[in-house]
Amino acid sequence: MTQDKKNRAIAIVTGANRGIGLEVVRQLAHRGMSVILGSRDLEKGKAAAVALTNESLTVIPRQLDVSEPESIARLATQVEAEFGYLDILVNNAGILYDTWQQANTADLDTVRQALETNTFGPWRMCQAFIPLIRRSQGGRIVNVSSEGGSLASMSG
Ligand SMILES: NC(=O)c1ccc[n+]([C@@H]2O[C@H](COP(=O)([O-])OP(=O)(O)OC[C@H]3O[C@@H](n4cnc5c(N)ncnc54)[C@H](OP(=O)(O)O)[C@@H]3O)[C@@H](O)[C@H]2O)c1
Repeated sequence: MTQDKKNRAIAIVTGANRGIGLEVVRQLAHRGMSVILGSRDLEKGKAAAVALTNESLTVIPRQLDVSEPESIARLATQVEAEFGYLDILVNNAGILYDTWQQANTADLDTVRQALETNTFGPWRMCQAFIPLIRRSQGGRIVNVSSEGGSLASMSG
């Protein structure tokens, strides 16, 4: 991993104001990393980060909606200016575990909303941050998935 001025690796976790994302932030920060806590509502992100910074962890809340290209571009610009590189991207944000839907009757607005966050979101994040990850000495991208997206467990 690349080391910053304080000898810390830099990580971003999307959808990190609660749930699994918040715990991933906590565990990466406990390993000595500077972790950018992505939250589509910045106030929720700040509130989530408070408890972690109270544990003397380096957690930086930032506004990030993975369904909005402008939001992603803004964060990429900030990270480039602030650190110049990125070591770890955790694509965690996810919505609409819509197992109630069937392909032949699915509400396509719901499907579109899910695709924007669950599919195009991580894809956009990769496109925006791979140039910064290439500057890391050991960059990693972690895509958090779900059994709901497992072809092996899908049935008619
Ligand atoms: N929990 C499980 O049992 C389980 C099992 C398998 C896989 N997973 C996967 O693990 C990941 C996290 O799951 P979780 O249970 O922790 O989910 P969760 O508690 O529902 O949290 C989802 C997080 O994603 C954020 N988010 C939603 N849309 C977003 C967007 N457009 N841009 C940025 N952030 C957005 C939410 O923000 P808001 O607070 O603003 O809504 C929230 O912070 C998901 O990818 C999920 O598919 C979870």
